[in-house]
Parts: sequence; structure tokens; C-alpha cells
Amino acid sequence: MKPTTLHNIQGGNEMIKVIQKAKGPLKGTVKIPGDKSISHRAVLFASIAEGTSTIHGFLRGQDCLSTISCMRELGVEITETDDVITVEGKGSSGLAEPDKLLDVGNSGTTIRLLSGILAGQEFYNVLAGDDSIAKRPMRRVTGPLKMMNASIDGRDFGNYTPLTIRGGNLQGIHYFSPVASAQVKSAVLLAGLYANGQTTVTEPFLSRDHTERMLRTFGVEVETEDLSATIRGGQKLQATKVEVPGDISSAAFMLVAGAIVPESEIKLDVVGINPTRAGIIDVMKRAGADVTLENERMLGGEPVADIRIKASSLKAVEIAGADIPRLIDEIPVLALLATQAEGTTVIKDAAELKVKETNRIDTVVNQLNKLGASCEATEDGMIIHGPTPLKGAEVESFHDHRIGMTMALAGLISEGEVKVKDTEAIAVSYPDFFEDLKGLLN
Ligand code: S3P
Repeated sequence: MKPTTLHNIQGGNEMIKVIQKAKGPLKGTVKIPGDKSISHRAVLFASIAEGTSTIHGFLRGQDCLSTISCMRELGVEITETDDVITVEGKGSSGLAEPDKLLDVGNSGTTIRLLSGILAGQEFYNVLAGDDSIAKRPMRRVTGPLKMMNASIDGRDFGNYTPLTIRGGNLQGIHYFSPVASAQVKSAVLLAGLYANGQTTVTEPFLSRDHTERMLRTFGVEVETEDLSATIRGGQKLQATKVEVPGDISSAAFMLVAGAIVPESEIKLDVVGINPTRAGIIDVMKRAGADVTLENERMLGGEPVADIRIKASSLKAVEIAGADIPRLIDEIPVLALLATQAEGTTVIKDAAELKVKETNRIDTVVNQLNKLGASCEATEDGMIIHGPTPLKGAEVESFHDHRIGMTMALAGLISEGEVKVKDTEAIAVSYPDFFEDLKGLLN
């Protein structure tokens, strides 16, 4: 019989999860859910391809479902079964003017990548999402798309939703992005497919390269060199079969759980280890974590492996520079790891955290400190003094999936109950998170 270390309290509209200290090590194998970034791209690219594409291992999280519903509004026929998503591609000019506003929910990837595609369409679109999306900066995408000739507006001259886009007649550009952002790079490259001439994006550090890899599997030529990617306008996408690997950003939670709950050993199956995403593995190894990759192979243009994590003693590390885009989404859970590491962990060059689903510098630092951690916010990151024992408290997730999961894991090593508010947001990227965690409790 497994002890019930996780249970729910429903308070008003909010789902509160109560997590108690794990009574023993975490043991077992988890099949990590599909990669969120790759799932979005698969639906978007299949929609503008010629022919019928199938997507296997698609993440049925709220964000990716928002991408599906937007593409349906644009006239794309998409069928869903438990195993396969089938997309009847409309070709590059077959999308139709939507009757309604395109609702992206909580999904930054949906609004930013879709804006790139819509910049190539002559019809009128309005895009908006939830309260978090309404606060997230869009000029980083609308700015270069306007330079390409798209007509875009929004609050604060195109910086905030609702965005209106009427595109067409685009001109290729060479865009030097001030931020290392795959959402910016992808939006500009997708618009580049519809532009005259060629379009290049150069970024300060390399961001995730799933767009470049997947466009090639749809038959598009994309040239990459150092920090630049170039696409020639007018190329057509051909339908294909996409296999989505497990999301390393979801695996991150299980990796950290396995590292901090004493004597744990967990195996994570079929996880994407694309070098532009795998920063967490390098950083955890530097911190003394016992992580091993097994059965490394390619799956649909992306490298994958099974990952084994065993609990071990941990030491503080510095996380900065080119590492940051390779693990930006993992910083909340790495901060939790740092609370258990010997020494002072310094995370810098990570100001991008302020414009995620929440200001993740503030939310991480404030909530971990409520649990007894010793964290300080800085202008571009945080400093964490460890190791500190954690204690029970009621913490907020602020409707941010990654904050909710980080806090739940903190409960596994805290003396006293950790109550995490608004955990329904976890379904954005990892709908079975609590079931998978329960399966590891002994
Ligand atoms: C993503 C890119 C990253 C990441 C986000 C998903 C993507 O955002 O944080 O969760 O799928 O391209 P930025 O491009 O804003 O860094």
C-alpha cells in the first residue's frame, strides 16, 4: 500500500494540493509526456504543409490544445485520438480568415509563433489570451514582423494583446535579435517563408533549434551557422510524420525530485536531449547529481535518451551566460535543487525570467523563502544559500505551471505539509504530473 502523501482540497475555484514529506525514496520509471515546444511546432507546420501529417506523442497539455484550437479557427481540420493527431494541411496559402478572436490561452509559444505565420496572410486576425499573456511583451515579435511589412497593432503600439495582424507582401530581413529567444527566431523564420528573398535571424546566444530541425523534416531548406539561421521565401512544406520526444522541461521535475529525495532512483524514458535544451543535465552533473544517459538515439530529427537519476549529495554552482537559454524553463526547479546544495548558487544573465508566465525571479524566491529557504532576488537572477531544511507552509503558484510543480516537489522534502494553491495550471505542460509523482512514492 502506498501512503497518501498527496491530496486535494478544493477551495472556491482553486485546486489546492497538499504534499507531505516522502516517507521513503522515489523509485520507478516515468514515461515523460511529449515536448511542448515540439508539439506546438508540429501542429503549426503541419497546418501550412501540403498533405496529411500525423503527430505521435503529442503533448495534450492546455498550451498545445490552444494551438490546435487556433488552427481550427483558421480552417484547418485536425482530428485527435489518444495516440495520434492528424492534420489536414492547407498548404502555404490555404488558411482562412477566422470568424472569432484567436484565443491562445496561457500560451506564449502559440501567440508568438502563430504571429509569424499570420504575418504572411492577407486576412485580418485578432489574437489574445489570458491575464498572464496580457502582460507578456510582444514587441520582440511584432517589431521584426512590422519591419518585414506586416500591419500589426496592439496595446502600447503592438507590445501587448489583443494583437491585430493583417499581413502579406512581406520583405525578407536580416534581424539581429536582442534576446536569445526561440519564439522570436521562429516567428521571424516562419514569416520568412512568406517573404521576398531570404530572411536571417542572428541571436546573442543560441536558443532552442526545434523550428530549424522540424522545418527540414517538412522539406524546407534552413541554413544554420553559429548564431544565425536563414530561410528562403516561397518554400513549400510537405506533410510528414512527426514523432515527439519526451519534454526535458517536464523531465526536469522528476530529475530534481530524484536528486533531492534521499536514496531515490528514477528512470525517465524517451526524453529529448537536444543540446539547445539539455542545460539542466550539464548543470546537475556540475552540482554533483548522479545523472546518466542511456540508449541515446535519434527520434524524428531530435536526439533522445533514457535518463537515470540517483539521489546524491549536491554542491552549489554558477549558472550564467550561454547556459541560460539552454535551461531557462528549468530555473524554478533548479532553484529548489540549489536549496539542498552545499554553498551559494548564483544564477545570473537570466532577466528573461521576469517575462515568463509570471515574474519567475520574484515568484521562485518569495515562495521558496516561505518554506524556509534562503534566496535573494537579483536584477538578472537569484542567489541561493544552501543547504537549508524546508518546512511546511501555504504557497502560491500564481497560475504558473512550473512554479506549481516546483512547490509540490518542495513538499516532498519539507517537515510539515506544503499546500500549493491553483495547481490546475500544471495541466498547461504536464497534465499527469501528480499521477506520475504518486507512481514513484513507495
Ligand atoms: C519556447 C521558447 C522559450 C521557452 C518557452 C518555449 C519555444 O521562450 O521559455 O517555454 O517553444 O520556442 P523564449 O523564446 O521566450 O525564450
